[in-house]
Amino acid sequence: MSSINFLRIVLLSILSFSTLSVTQLTLDTAPISDDPWDLDGPCQKYVEKLAIVQSEMVACATNWSIPPKVCTNCYSYYINFKQYEYETKHLDNVFSLDNRTCSQVIYDNYLLSYSSEISTALTNKIWEHSRCDSCIEINWNFPQNKSEPVFSDRTLQFQQRLYEWRNCVVNYTSGNVLEQDLTNGSKICNWCKTPFNELFGYYWKIYITPDEDFCVDVETTMNDTIHLWNDVWQCAERQDRDRDLAGIMITFSTLLLLTALFYAASYIQGGGQTRNLIRYSRLLTDPRGQRSRLLSSGMSDADLVHGSSSTSSLQYNVPVHQTR
Ligand SMILES: *[C@@H]1O[C@H](CO)[C@@H](O)[C@H](O)[C@H]1NC(C)=O
Ligand SMILES: *[C@@H]1O[C@H](CO)[C@@H](O)[C@H](O)[C@H]1NC(C)=O
Ligand SMILES: *[C@@H]1O[C@H](CO)[C@@H](O)[C@H](O)[C@H]1NC(C)=O
Ligand SMILES: *[C@@H]1O[C@H](CO)[C@@H](O)[C@H](O)[C@H]1NC(C)=O
Ligand SMILES: *[C@@H]1O[C@H](CO)[C@@H](O)[C@H](O)[C@H]1NC(C)=O
Ligand SMILES: *[C@@H]1O[C@H](CO)[C@@H](O)[C@H](O)[C@H]1NC(C)=O
Repeated sequence: MSSINFLRIVLLSILSFSTLSVTQLTLDTAPISDDPWDLDGPCQKYVEKLAIVQSEMVACATNWSIPPKVCTNCYSYYINFKQYEYETKHLDNVFSLDNRTCSQVIYDNYLLSYSSEISTALTNKIWEHSRCDSCIEINWNFPQNKSEPVFSDRTLQFQQRLYEWRNCVVNYTSGNVLEQDLTNGSKICNWCKTPFNELFGYYWKIYITPDEDFCVDVETTMNDTIHLWNDVWQCAERQDRDRDLAGIMITFSTLLLLTALFYAASYIQGGGQTRNLIRYSRLLTDPRGQRSRLLSSGMSDADLVHGSSSTSSLQYNVPVHQTR
C-alpha cells in the first residue's frame, strides 16, 4: 500500500518537474530576436523601438486624462511616436528571411497588427478626438526627423488670460488657493471678477465663431475654471443676488417717481381752478387705480429683471462641443 503511494508520489513529482523544466526551457533559451527560426528576426528591433515610443505616449495620455489635456502636455511624445511610426512604414531596405520588407512584415503580413492597431488608436482616438490641431499645429518633417510644434495664437491668448486670472486669485490668497480663505469666497469674486470676465469673454468669442475652435484641453480648462468659480467659490450666485437687489431697487424707485409725477401732473392740471367736491374725489380715486396698475407692472418688471439675470448666469454654464 504505502510503497505504491510512494511510487505514485515519486512519479508525479518527476512528471511535474519535467513539465516545469520544459516550459522554462522554451521561455528562457529562445530570445526572440536571435531566434534562427524567427522568419521576421531582422525586423524585431524596429518593432521594439516602436513599442517604447507608443507606450510613452500611452502613459502620458493616461496621466493627463482627468481632465483630458493631451495636446498641450504630450505633444513631444506624440511627435516622437509619429516619427517612429513613419520609420517603420519606410523600412524598405530591411528584409525578413523570406525577402519581404520589414514594413510589409509589420503592417501587412499577418491577420492582426497590434502595433498598427495601437498607432491608429493613439492617432484617431486620442490626438484627433481631442482636436489637438486647434491648439497646436505640428509642421511635420519626417525625413529629417525635425518636426516642429507651433501653438496657435488663440491658445496663447487664452493661456495669457487664464494666467492673469490665476495670478489675481493667488495674489489675494497668498498662494493658499484651497484654504478656507477662498471657500469663504466673496472677496475673490469681487476682486477677480474682471480677469474672470475677460477670460470667459475671450473663450466665448472664439466659441461662437464658426470655423474657429479650441482643443479639448482648453475646453476642459475653461470648464473646470467655471466650476471652481461658480460651484466652489459660488461667485455667480453672489453676483446674481447683487443684481437682483439692484433690479428691485431700480423698479421701486421708478415706481415712486411715476407716482410722484402722476400726482404732480394731476395737481397742475387741476391747479388754480375752482373744483367741486365730486370732481376732486374722482381725481382721488383715479390715481389709486393707476397706482395699483403701476404696482402690478412693477412686479412683472422685477420678474423680468430676475429672469434676465438668471439667463445671464446661464451664460456661464459650459458651452461644450460634443466630442466627435
Ligand atoms: C502626470 O500628471 C501630473 C499632473 O496631473 C504631472 O504633475 C506629472 O508631471 C505628470 N507625469 C508625467 C510623467 O507626465
Ligand atoms: C532574397 O534576395 C537575395 C538577393 O536579393 C537572394 O540572394 C535570395 O535568394 C533571396 N531569398 C529568397 C528566399 O527569395
Ligand atoms: C529624432 O530626433 C530626436 C532628437 O531630436 C531623437 O531623440 C529621436 O530618437 C530621433 N528619432 C529617430 C527615429 O531617429
Ligand atoms: C498683486 O498685488 C500687488 C500689490 O498688492 C499689485 O501691485 C499687483 O498688481 C497685483 N497683481 C495682480 C495680478 O493682481
Ligand atoms: C468668512 O469671512 C468672514 C469675514 O471676512 C469671517 O467672519 C468668517 O469667519 C469667515 N468664514 C469662514 C468659514 O472662514
Ligand atoms: C464640462 O463639465 C460638464 C459637467 O461638469 C460635463 O458634462 C462636460 O462633459 C464637461 N466638458 C468637457 C469638455 O469636459
